[in-house]
Amino acid sequence: MSRPPQFTPSSAVRLAPSILSADFARLGEEVRAIEAAGADFVHFDVMDNHYVPNLTIGPLVCEAIRPHVQIPIDVHLMVEPVDALVPLFAKAGANCITFHPEASRHVDRTLQLIRSHGCKAGIALNPATPLAWMDHVMDKLDRVLLMSVNPGFGGQAFIAHTLHKLREARRRIDAHVATGGQPIGLEVDGGVKLDNIGEIVQAGADICVAGSAIFGAADASGGYHGVMSALRHAAATPEFPSSHAPRRTPPCH
Ligand code: DX5
Ligand code: ZN
Repeated sequence: MSRPPQFTPSSAVRLAPSILSADFARLGEEVRAIEAAGADFVHFDVMDNHYVPNLTIGPLVCEAIRPHVQIPIDVHLMVEPVDALVPLFAKAGANCITFHPEASRHVDRTLQLIRSHGCKAGIALNPATPLAWMDHVMDKLDRVLLMSVNPGFGGQAFIAHTLHKLREARRRIDAHVATGGQPIGLEVDGGVKLDNIGEIVQAGADICVAGSAIFGAADASGGYHGVMSALRHAAATPEFPSSHAPRRTPPCH
């Protein structure tokens, strides 16, 4: 059987710890700790108990953590409707806003709205949501986020089919850039762990969100240097799962 084409990352993967798994009672300290450990973004999960069956944090919390870090805040809106929250998050210091396109009546308009507020704009696609949502808005995307779990909760298992979807999304983005299009970050969210981040990056991801894998593995000092550097090492080592650890994701059929 021929092997799927391999993606060669041009630069190191960017890590976006999801504060959904942080200690909410010490959020300022937690975001400072992940920045000190080399995080590239703070991933900020917004859930509304409508689009997803969970309820989390909003613009006031975004504003509260903003002074604690320099790194960009990557807001992932799991809400419906979307548009009214965009200016509130932009004002609260968000740098990137990603939404689920099925939750917006007018996807193109929402992307323009996000950019008009000075933020990077992205769409988030659930495991069963097709890549076709990218088709007519490629020129307005700064990010495509592929959900590798169904949204709503941290700590779920990675859905293996995401690897196929990632390779196809990478192919579409590379083709877009090759014909003069703007760069588009390819982000993966859900179930990213030490034992699968290598194959996820190899499949084409350049931004990896990880919640429980990072906040569940604090250093003895309470920081996150150990787990963050282990993730970076594993991300650069595609053979890591088979040679060092049991595979958690079953092969795809
Ligand atoms: C799920 C959220 C994710 C989640 C990831 O709906 O969007 O960002 O926090 O958590 P882990 O890494 O634990 O799967
Ligand atoms: Zn998320």
